[in-house]
Amino acid sequence: AKPMTVPEFIAAKGRGQKLAVLTAYDFTSARLLDQAGVDAILIGDSLGMVVQGNPHCLTVTLDEMIYHTRCVARGTQRALLITDLPFMTYQVSPEQALISAGRAIQEGGAHAVKLEGGERSADAIAKVVSADIPVMGHLGLTPQSIHRMGGFKVQRAEEQLLRDAKAVEQAGAFSIVLECIPAELAKKISDSIAIPTIGIGAGVGCDGQVLVYHDVLGLFGEFRPKFVKRYAELGPIIHDAAARYCEEVRQGRFPDADHQFKS
Ligand code: KIV
Ligand code: NA
Repeated sequence: AKPMTVPEFIAAKGRGQKLAVLTAYDFTSARLLDQAGVDAILIGDSLGMVVQGNPHCLTVTLDEMIYHTRCVARGTQRALLITDLPFMTYQVSPEQALISAGRAIQEGGAHAVKLEGGERSADAIAKVVSADIPVMGHLGLTPQSIHRMGGFKVQRAEEQLLRDAKAVEQAGAFSIVLECIPAELAKKISDSIAIPTIGIGAGVGCDGQVLVYHDVLGLFGEFRPKFVKRYAELGPIIHDAAARYCEEVRQGRFPDADHQFKS
């Protein structure tokens, strides 16, 4: 298949072709997802939770995002690569946003960046887009706002969300993530703009979907939101493999004749 591009990503909405996006944070997982045919890979700041083990993503740095983006880029041939701008790397000023986005592209090898916020982030989005760096917006539950929101909660402020979506589109974004928004409202937002919406906990009316790698594969047990569908249960499989390995090593059954060199 041909590499996915930003114009192709936008055009998919016009054709009614749904977009399938997953997160990844390293070479091996990115290669598996790319070969499975995902349209885009998001190097999300969710890595603060699923890779680093923090309770939220606020401590993730731009250097860490760049490092993981480089790992993912080496494993990807077809998928569009979108890197999250982490907390405090775009909120200070549009100039700061552009410098951060530029690093994600130049040092990380991303094709596009994602940043959170609607009207409040419109100037930052426009500035980044002015340098021909494609931007994905992110509305609804914006995890970098966790302390204001008081937790991971469904977002229902209809008028504000519709205004935010328009503002992000007009600022020049090529797509918007809608997170934890009632399905009907997410559908209304999707119908109100020309660029594709990518939903997570936002129902089937979005133009595409995104989920977190560890959630889809059943690797992350701590947190199980309603919108996550587990397409595999790898947690118990890895647990059993590791437990059998320990047992065989301790019993002197591994390595056997097949797994050692002859003199
Ligand atoms: O960080 C992330 O993984 C995200 C997606 C869940 C949209 O922002
Ligand atoms: Na994110």
